Amino acid sequence: SKAITTHTLQAMRDKGEKFSMLTCYDASFATLMDRSGVEVVLIGDSLGMVCQGHNSTLPVTVQDIVYHTASVARGNGTMLIMADLPFGSYPTSQAAFDNAVKLMQAGAHSIKLEGGAWLVDTVKFLTERGIPVCAHLGLTPQSVHQLGGFKVQGKTMDGATRLHADAVALQNAGASMLLLEAIPATLGKEITERLSVPTIGIGAGPDCSGQVLVMHDMLGVFPGHKSRFVRNFMDGANGIDGALKAYVAAVKDGSFPAQEHCF
Ligand code: KIV
Ligand code: NA
Repeated sequence: SKAITTHTLQAMRDKGEKFSMLTCYDASFATLMDRSGVEVVLIGDSLGMVCQGHNSTLPVTVQDIVYHTASVARGNGTMLIMADLPFGSYPTSQAAFDNAVKLMQAGAHSIKLEGGAWLVDTVKFLTERGIPVCAHLGLTPQSVHQLGGFKVQGKTMDGATRLHADAVALQNAGASMLLLEAIPATLGKEITERLSVPTIGIGAGPDCSGQVLVMHDMLGVFPGHKSRFVRNFMDGANGIDGALKAYVAAVKDGSFPAQEHCF
């Protein structure tokens, strides 16, 4: 089959076909995910928590993401590879570009960064230079100390209005996707309908164009806090392979996320 690109995802969104994304940090899991029909893999800075054992994503470096991206790329077949720009690596457009280049040269096909309208110039700078960007809104874990914890966002009228405005500004700046984390399902639906690019949800309701989960969460191997939006796909599955396929199927048929996973 053919390599999945940002254009593939846009076409799926336009047809109302859901796509599935998972975090991935190594070659073996990349191959399993590829064979299970996962469309997008994210080398997330969540690796700081699930692989390195830190209690936030803040200690993760560009070099850490480069290492894991290169590992995932070696195991990949046709999935779109997205890599996170970690905390502190995009203070200016130029710095964002220099670090994004390292991720792209390690095998990423797109990068993700966290934040709202303040990133408009950076998103424009990267996309004009050939780097597809996904903007991460809502609960942005790199801002955990500013947010006062890992909390649901966009619950107030003001908060929801700001998220709408940020989403539109980032799309207009050239973002080819938006990732929405831990927001009310109604807001996830409204933002998805308002935009013309795909949205990817994690705790953002069933109406996003695609869904993402952290691999360790959906396989039930992360010993830390389990968010409401997590489902353990190993329950009732025939091995890891079966769990990955069950996740892809549940995203496609809309049975995940269910109401119990939503805010
Ligand atoms: O780093 C990560 O795993 C992420 C997902 C939670 C979307 O950014
Ligand atoms: Na991340």
